[in-house]
Amino acid sequence: MQTQAAGKEIIWKQLVEKLPATLDELSVAIKNKLDSDGYLHLPWPMSMEDYEQIARRLGTIVLRSDVKVDLDRARNQEQVRHIRGRGGIYSPSPLHLHTDPNADLVSWYCVEQDESGGPMLMLDTGNLEEHFSPRELEILSKVDLWSPSRKSETEAEMLTPVPLLSQKNGRYKIFFAPWLLRDSYENESAAILEKFVAYISGLEEKQLISLPIKKHDTIFIDNGRMLHGRGALPETSRRHLIRLYLRAA
Ligand SMILES: [Fe+2]
Repeated sequence: MQTQAAGKEIIWKQLVEKLPATLDELSVAIKNKLDSDGYLHLPWPMSMEDYEQIARRLGTIVLRSDVKVDLDRARNQEQVRHIRGRGGIYSPSPLHLHTDPNADLVSWYCVEQDESGGPMLMLDTGNLEEHFSPRELEILSKVDLWSPSRKSETEAEMLTPVPLLSQKNGRYKIFFAPWLLRDSYENESAAILEKFVAYISGLEEKQLISLPIKKHDTIFIDNGRMLHGRGALPETSRRHLIRLYLRAA
């Protein structure tokens, strides 16, 4: 007898395999899945063309990036940064768990993968409200971090203060990367921030999600809920992901 989970998996498989006839249907299903689970990994091969069509149905593409080890580009990126020494999409260094700036949804399409198959790591903060009181959530909404942005790869990046927690459509949305914190915070904020950092470490210890991404797989995340990262890659890595930042429709 087929389990319910296996049955659901077959539905996703059929939706992906019947592309592009099911583009609209699949996009709606992805939206619903992101609402309930915060992320979705589709481990069935999809063409780049279909992938882009789906992404366009989920929101406006505000940034498209190639995520791959490229030591020259990593060096150039470091030169225009104000906060130095952090990982990046061109560097083989590990990328610790974080959310990305300026995106409601983030998505990746795997163009090429290494044999060692570096997985995508994630944390789900969907249970935030069970761990923090309304008062603590209010304080976190006043803790700000530096949000980097830049007009092009060669221009100096700009840093704008953005709160760790904000609300969108009645839901809390997290913006967090440890390396974007200010040097210090006032007493009350510092104490709740410490509790938040411990909450994230607890999730990482007990509920780390590891997605073994293969060539032509796709991943979609609610960037206000899921933190993402990865381990170190070899300097000779061939892993290549196309990453899209989406503003939700
Ligand atoms: Fe990221």
